[in-house]
Amino acid sequence: MVHAPSWRVLAASLFLAAAAGSAAADQRPQAAPASVATRGPGHAAIASANFLATNAGLEVLGKGGNAFDAAIAVASTLAVVEQQSSGLGGGFMAMLHVAKENRDIFIDARETAPKAVDMKVYVGKDGKPDREVSTKGPLSAGIPGEPAGLAWIAQHYGKLPLAQSLAPAIRVATDGYQPDERFIGTIAENQKTLSRYPSSAAILLPGGSVPAKGWTLKQPDLAKTLRLIADKGAAGFYKGETAKRLVDASRKEGGNWTQADLDAYQVKEREPLRIDYKGYRIVTAPPPSSGGVAIAEVLNILAGYDLAKLDAAHATHLTIEAMRRAFRDHNEYLGDPDFVKMPLDMLLSRYYADGLRATISPDKATPSDLLPTAMAPEPGMHTTHFSVIDKDGNMVASTLTVNLEFGSGFVAAGTGVFLNDEMDDFALVPGQPNAFGLRGAEANKPEPGKRMLSSMSPSFVFGADRTAVIGSPGGSTIITQVLEGILAFIDGKDASGITAQKRYHHQYLPDRVDVEDGVFDAATTKALTDMGHVLRQRSPWGFMNVVTWDHRTNTLDAASDPRRPSGLGKVQ
Ligand code: GLY
Repeated sequence: MVHAPSWRVLAASLFLAAAAGSAAADQRPQAAPASVATRGPGHAAIASANFLATNAGLEVLGKGGNAFDAAIAVASTLAVVEQQSSGLGGGFMAMLHVAKENRDIFIDARETAPKAVDMKVYVGKDGKPDREVSTKGPLSAGIPGEPAGLAWIAQHYGKLPLAQSLAPAIRVATDGYQPDERFIGTIAENQKTLSRYPSSAAILLPGGSVPAKGWTLKQPDLAKTLRLIADKGAAGFYKGETAKRLVDASRKEGGNWTQADLDAYQVKEREPLRIDYKGYRIVTAPPPSSGGVAIAEVLNILAGYDLAKLDAAHATHLTIEAMRRAFRDHNEYLGDPDFVKMPLDMLLSRYYADGLRATISPDKATPSDLLPTAMAPEPGMHTTHFSVIDKDGNMVASTLTVNLEFGSGFVAAGTGVFLNDEMDDFALVPGQPNAFGLRGAEANKPEPGKRMLSSMSPSFVFGADRTAVIGSPGGSTIITQVLEGILAFIDGKDASGITAQKRYHHQYLPDRVDVEDGVFDAATTKALTDMGHVLRQRSPWGFMNVVTWDHRTNTLDAASDPRRPSGLGKVQ
């Protein structure tokens, strides 16, 4: 058995080795490869977590919109029909590919901590994070980014007026729709929190009870908020009537938002991370997402192996060990790039990956024994992802969130908007796990105006002949889902194959491999166990929505995760 009591020493020496060689190793190219077809596919495809949202995007494409207008339609409709996962009171991250410029842009519409943030309120008497405060009610909410992000995309990348792209969402909020069993199930699971706030109960608990199947949900307040955004852009949310309602409701319920927080909110455009792996270019989320850095570390480690020549058990063992090492760094170094200096050159360097690879035994698990382990709860289906390719080859991969189901559970009265509970994604008590079992350090401590670290990993994968638009919800498992999806695409799978593929996950701590039923056969399970891996079966997770484009045949494939019936992937 390999013991690793001195991980910090090891990491520090790897840091020094990597820093010495980082300039030479930093070969990140600045643009997508020329092999990406500059002509579009001539038709379009969208995959999202709800058929109404996919259809809203297709409707907007049919009216002459591009992928970016369609993205606004999909996101805003998800804010109406899938509020447990995302919404105007939350935030998002999006990768955009502008075909005619062959340019990739990362849009950061992540929430920010309010100016009055006070770390002390999130610490319980036992010194651990007080989850009641960090996940419920207005103190758990960051300043939302989604409305500003949608208005930004319309203004800078769309072809249609914002009002036209928001029209399907306004129609569904006004006319109502029949939520599916999954949605009603999440109301039942969150009934206690929802019933705590009359403004939330009024929307989701008609007559004080969980609604029955066949119920029609109309949301006139949300429709009104969307109309104000359609008329005034971001100002329809961050200024005037809506802003006043948000601030007043938050403060009345013990929150600390001010108009100055809403005034200060800014969408950020950031350079995506670019990773070259086995002839493919992966373009993915930079900090304040931790996803792209972790995916880069895993792929850089795996680049030194010929996985195809190994049996399933050994290939999986090496991938798990790479995940373990990438998540350790995730916990240690990452935060909001506007606030913290991160050793990204080191983390993304191939020399650093060489050093990490050298610590991996070919047939023994390395115990993650630096920190005491803690059990992580099941990753839920909160957060959502959609993927779009339009006829001209413009693309959007976007992951959106209010954090846990229905975010804070708190609706600002008169707005129809559930406030997020994204403050729990900060390292509220450094070293202590958040709701996804992720531990954070100083780099991710809350500060006024700072963005909390995210796992959201919307990504593009560009190959000589094929392109994928990929992402998923699932808290910390987002990173391993997207990683496994990228590897599956590189192995030749299309959208349907990627979304259907069974999953496994390791995040350093707790030190175990979460496995979906059927992911490994009996022989692989035994071999992994013999190598020292602790496997734990858990119920299926994730809600991948993927679009792939085969340039050789100019065909698109769009697929929504078969684990969840409400989604729809559709080629138009
Ligand atoms: N709230 C989940 C995430 O951003 O990763």
